[in-house]
Order: sequence, then C-alpha cells, then structure tokens
Amino acid sequence: MAAVTDLRFQIAPGGALTGRLRVPGDKSISHRSIMLAALAEGETHIGGFLEGADSLATLAAFHRMGVAIDGPDAGRVRVRGVGMRGLSAPDGALDLGNSGTSMRLLAGLLAGQSFPVTLVGDDSLSRRPMRRVTDPLAMMGARIDSSETGTAPLRIEPVPHLSGLDYAMPVASAQVKSSVLLAGLYAAGETCVTEPARTRDHTERMLTAFGYSVRRQGCKVCLTGGGRLSGCRLAIPGDISSAAFFLVGASIAPGSDLLLEAVGINPTRVGVINILRAMGADIELIDRRTAGGEPLADIRVCCARLKGIRIPVDQVPLAIDEFPAIFIAAACAEGETVLTGAEELRVKESDRIQVMADGLNQLGILAEPLPDGIRIVGGQLGSTMTTGDIDAHGDHRIAMSFAMAGLRASGPIKIRDCANVETSFPGFADLAAGCGLGIEEVRA
Ligand code: S3P
Repeated sequence: MAAVTDLRFQIAPGGALTGRLRVPGDKSISHRSIMLAALAEGETHIGGFLEGADSLATLAAFHRMGVAIDGPDAGRVRVRGVGMRGLSAPDGALDLGNSGTSMRLLAGLLAGQSFPVTLVGDDSLSRRPMRRVTDPLAMMGARIDSSETGTAPLRIEPVPHLSGLDYAMPVASAQVKSSVLLAGLYAAGETCVTEPARTRDHTERMLTAFGYSVRRQGCKVCLTGGGRLSGCRLAIPGDISSAAFFLVGASIAPGSDLLLEAVGINPTRVGVINILRAMGADIELIDRRTAGGEPLADIRVCCARLKGIRIPVDQVPLAIDEFPAIFIAAACAEGETVLTGAEELRVKESDRIQVMADGLNQLGILAEPLPDGIRIVGGQLGSTMTTGDIDAHGDHRIAMSFAMAGLRASGPIKIRDCANVETSFPGFADLAAGCGLGIEEVRA
C-alpha cells in the first residue's frame, strides 16, 4: 500500500463544469460501516461503499482479523459480523496506508481485544500525532506503545479490562471521540466524551443504526460498555468532502451549472456550503431525504461572483477537510479571506496551510500562512506564474483542489505527487473531465 509518487495532473486553463454527476461514497461513513458491521451479530448489507484506498485498508484489516466480507462490488459490501468478541489475531501488522481514520479508530476498537496487534502506515501517516488517542485510551487502562514522538507504529497489547472514562477532548476531533467511544464498547460502565466544538457524528448515528444506545446532551456523548450490535442495511451517501471540489469548481468557473446527486448533508459536515454561501456562492439543496440515519440531498451549484470573508471560527470543525478547496475559492474571490482557529490543518495528510500557501504563491496569489490559518487575497490565478508547477505532497485534497484552480488560471497547471487521490476519490480525473475540466493524468 506504499504511496507511489509518479502520477501527475496536467490541467488546461479555462472551461466550465456542467451536467450531473455522483461523487463516490462518504469516506468517514464507509470506514465506520465496516468496523461496526464486523462487530455486529448477523449480516450487514452496505450500499455506496467508497472503493478508495483508505476505506479498503479498513476493510482489509477486518478481513485479516477473520471477518468474512464479500465485495466491494460496485459499492456493495456484505459483512458477516463476528460479534463483539469474535475478531481473531491477524498474522502480522495491519497496514493502514495513508488512513488516519483507520488508525485512530482501530486503536480504540482494538484496545479491548484479547490479542496483541500492531498498526502501521505510510510515511505521511507515520508522522501524524497519535497521542491524542493513545493518551485517553491509556486512561481507560489500554496498553499501546508508540514511537518516542507519539507516532505509529502503534503496538496494542491485550489488558484484562478497560474502564469507562469521562473525557473532555482538548481538540475538536471526531477521530478521537470515535476512538474513545469504540473502546467504551468494551469498557466497564459508562464512557463519555465532551467535545470543545461539535464534530462529525457519524459514529453516534451508526451505533444507533446498529441498535446500540448512545446518549447525547449538548456537546457530551455517552454510551455504556458491554452491549451488542445487530447487523443492518446501510446506504452510504456521496461524500460532501469529494463534492466540495465540484462546489468550488462550478462556483469559480463562468458558465457552470452542475448537479451533484445524493450528497450527504449531515449538519456536522456542511461547513463548506455555509462558507461558500457566505462568500456569495449560488448553491441550492434539492430533494432533501434521509438514508441509514444520515441526511442527503442533490446539490445544484452555478457560477457566482465570490467575495472574500473572515471565515467564522465555528465553521472550522464543520469544514475541516474542505479548506484546501475553499482556499481556491478564496483565491478567485474579490478581496481578502482570513481563516484562523484552524491549526489542525497543519497535521492532516500534509501541512495543508503551508502546502496550499506555497501552491497559491506559485500561481501568483498572495497567500500568507498564519500559525493557525491563512490570509488569501483574491486575484488572477497564474498571472505571475513562473512554472505553473504545483507539488501536492502526496495529499489527495491538495491535488484535487489545484486541479479545480485550472478553471480560472491563465495558463496550464501541472500538479505532481497526485497518486493518493486514489485514497478518497477513485475516478476523480474521469468524472471531472466528463463535466468539463481539462484534466489529463500523466504517469512519469
Ligand atoms: C474524520 C475526522 C476528521 C477528518 C478526517 C476524517 C473522521 O479528522 O479530518 O478526514 O472520519 O472521523 P479529525 O478527527 O482529526 O478532525
């Protein structure tokens, strides 16, 4: 699963995005669907599963722990659950590739098993902070060794029992919350997590769909260990984080009118829509409905004149993965956009503040990194371009964001190190080309 670095995107300038398309299934929900289905009693049938490298890494991990899984086949997966105590020891370390969600959630889920297991990842994942999960899990009685700097590999040793925890999270992180709650399934008594700001609640919603009682009061969510999960049917909506590239692309490219079908609009994920609308975007939600406990809608987006804004801090956790795309919108907006309170962006698949600032500067846009955000002054992309060469640093969301920038650039853009687009959005280039982006994939 090691990341290859030989895929480049070559983007022709100009164009418009038109027509209708369906983005792949939600990554966060796909991970959780495999995890809970594996621990459930009975079969779970999943539709709309994301066949990207990240969620496939989670699927492969459970396969190696003895869970029978059919698929994915066109997004359909059938999991024969083994029950809460039915996992078996894998025959070696579990390689989770580039996937932070797999590693952090599995650390919690595996802390209460009766066998030892080691979690490893690629270079990027092996640099990402893991103490945010290993510290609260240790408070529950878990034994997890990491490197001296608190990074992977994570070696999880079995312990006689875990205790419930009342945990006030220092960072607003759905991965940390989910990791603690998943360990809480195996802990004695009640486990509660209080979030400093509301984060995505897919774990809570899905536990409920599998029949497990979860209690929420304001920013505190609690469950009691020792219960059971029952297999069910799940329909996974399109990933709003993948739709975000098209929301931005269509907003900035004159003449665009695009319909994105069946996209998840969970209120804990819609920051990108709120922020783009505040900038003046023309985004309409059509035919709102629910599936598997998650709200979804078709989204129509047309080109609009965008203006720079100060991004409200309360939107940061609701748009945490969409900022690379939002920065491209800011670069095409009139005036200045300022983001603060988003230091978490520095510890994603890349340092997304620095890498985006470097790429925007390369395209002649004034983008000034701040310790916890960025200041971007809108202008003409590519006007003082030296080479038009962007380095995506192996970060899928950086690669796809700069691909959309081509729609408003005055010259061609070349983006290197794009292979990891496969982690969250297989088929991105074909889908984008089909609705009007001048994108070509070049393998060096
Ligand atoms: C995720 C939570 C977020 C997000 C990540 C997926 C999840 O991470 O950035 O891509 O599925 O729980 P944090 O919990 O670190 O904010």
